[in-house]
Amino acid sequence: MQPTVRKAESVTVSERPVLLFDSGVGGLTVLREARVLMPDRRLVYVADDAGFPYGDWEEAALRARIVELFSKLIAEHDPEIAVIACNTASTLVLADLRAAFPDTPFVGTVPAIKPAAERTRSGLVSVLATPGTVKRQYTRDLIHEWAAKCHVRLVGSVRLAALAEAYMREGFVDEEAVRAEIAPCFMEEGGRRTDIVVLACTHYPFLVNRMRKTAPWPVDWIDPAEAIARRALSLLARDDRPRRNGLPEQPDIAVFTSQSPAPSVVKLVRGFGLQAATSSTT
Ligand code: DGL
Repeated sequence: MQPTVRKAESVTVSERPVLLFDSGVGGLTVLREARVLMPDRRLVYVADDAGFPYGDWEEAALRARIVELFSKLIAEHDPEIAVIACNTASTLVLADLRAAFPDTPFVGTVPAIKPAAERTRSGLVSVLATPGTVKRQYTRDLIHEWAAKCHVRLVGSVRLAALAEAYMREGFVDEEAVRAEIAPCFMEEGGRRTDIVVLACTHYPFLVNRMRKTAPWPVDWIDPAEAIARRALSLLARDDRPRRNGLPEQPDIAVFTSQSPAPSVVKLVRGFGLQAATSSTT
């Protein structure tokens, strides 16, 4: 019997990339979902590693930094859409970015307080985030709007984002440090216990197995990455230009504002299908 040879189907793809932005490697948790949902899109990942960690930046300075960075990133990469894969940035600067760049659709990543409030059975929910996200009025407004009937504890972790960075580069994390950072998330009140922890920093899903292991009791850990990628997909225009093999012609790249990512980071992003690139603008 003759083998069937199928012609490669032409797929829809846009040459303008989807840009994903974070202070470090945390946004890769969103990128891996984006890849699954939009395999024919070209991705540009931007890590503002020269500014990492965002968690304890003063708000006005961080806002100005990110808006300025985006004027260069948009000029250089002309993204069809920009995904701010960072809660610390989104809760601060999303409105400014939309106002400054009205032609670029922005998708933000903000603490998944609404789904947590819908899902909790005990009514005790914790939001694990950077100190910056915990401080934001935006986060407080989300609680007020969606979780007024729950007891929501905001837990600002000074160390977890850096622990996740180190874990992704070196493959090692101090479990006792993870245990100590997540411990304040666990509340017991009148026979009820916390049953949901919102991972409100895109770095944290990389450590979720260690969190499960060191948690005092099982909880649901909410990672919004897939929902963010779905939202981005829903905003992308359909583009019917055919492309060979369904693959974008230009490679997916990772841009680092430090201009000199460590070899371990270059290797890490390669594992996510990204070629480390230098940028003329950052
Ligand atoms: N990944 C970032 C977030 O989602 C923050 C990490 C940091 O820069 O502190 O909030």
